[in-house]
Amino acid sequence: MALGEFLAELDKVAADAAATFESVLDSDSLEAARVEFLGAKQGRLKAVQKQMGQVDKADRPAAGKRLNAVKGQVEAAFEQARDRLGAGKSNSPKAGAEQFDPTLPGRSIRQGHLHPITQTIETLKEIMAGLGFSIAEGPEIEDEWHNFEALNIPLVHPARDPLDNFYLSVAGVGKGALLLRSQTSTVQIRIMEKMPPPVRIITLGRVYRPDTADATHYPMFHQMEGLLVDSHVTMADLKSVLRMFATSYLGADVHIRFRPSFFPFTEPSVEVDYHWNDQWIEFGGAGMVDPNVLQAVGYDPEQVTGFAFGLGIERLCMRRHNITDIREFYRNDVRFLHQF
Ligand code: PHE
Repeated sequence: MALGEFLAELDKVAADAAATFESVLDSDSLEAARVEFLGAKQGRLKAVQKQMGQVDKADRPAAGKRLNAVKGQVEAAFEQARDRLGAGKSNSPKAGAEQFDPTLPGRSIRQGHLHPITQTIETLKEIMAGLGFSIAEGPEIEDEWHNFEALNIPLVHPARDPLDNFYLSVAGVGKGALLLRSQTSTVQIRIMEKMPPPVRIITLGRVYRPDTADATHYPMFHQMEGLLVDSHVTMADLKSVLRMFATSYLGADVHIRFRPSFFPFTEPSVEVDYHWNDQWIEFGGAGMVDPNVLQAVGYDPEQVTGFAFGLGIERLCMRRHNITDIREFYRNDVRFLHQF
């Protein structure tokens, strides 16, 4: 038998095997193909091998070498087909169940949670709702009427200095310019403009001042503003509400102190300090709503009086959790945030 004839025979088996293994779709046809090509007795490769004896002696080494190469190819094609079918199988629920090891430690899911300031806001809302205050909201971009004018802060007042505020257009200061609100007292005006007395609201939100950030300052922070207007409201009511609020939030051992102060929109005005853990800490300002403010929103100062207060939310949260640097809140380092 000529070498060429033998090799042609081998090539045919190799091509047929490649096509067959490539197209098998299940384990039965895979087994049938294995028997057809690689079967130890009747397999087609075996049949070709048997013809080796008829090849001219000189050509036999070349024939044998080629036979081994083709055998390797056919075996590889078989293994590939087996892996292909096997891979599909291990996706079935049964195969997955067999691999499930109940003794392995579980993979825990890391749950997110609310930012500590948001949590504080939620708590403050609950406490104040318990004291009969409802929640009001106002915009963070304000006009000068609500941030200053109606609050009895005239154009000449130093609080309106462009260096102390985030004006959105400095050119227009005093002519209806817009700015990021520097206090939540703006919402007092917005609410009183909209509804007649009695009013009993709180508003919690962001305010902006161009302060350099340090351990106790940040150019953006949160305030809780309260406003109560009715007939016969007195300073004693203000102090009672702030004391009840403080004991609810910080604990029964908190004391409260008023120090005389000045705000254009309250008269008289006070600074509010809380005594807690052997320290007096300033939490914000308060006072009786100035008659000029009541007039600006169309209320009659002869008929109604009111009190207002504005407290720093970061300070309350820091005090409660012993946080010493306000910047931690806004670094957004999850190692810090995850503690709350
Ligand atoms: N708006 C004042 C501030 O930002 C706080 C305040 C609110 C004072 C209400 C009196 C009454 O500091």
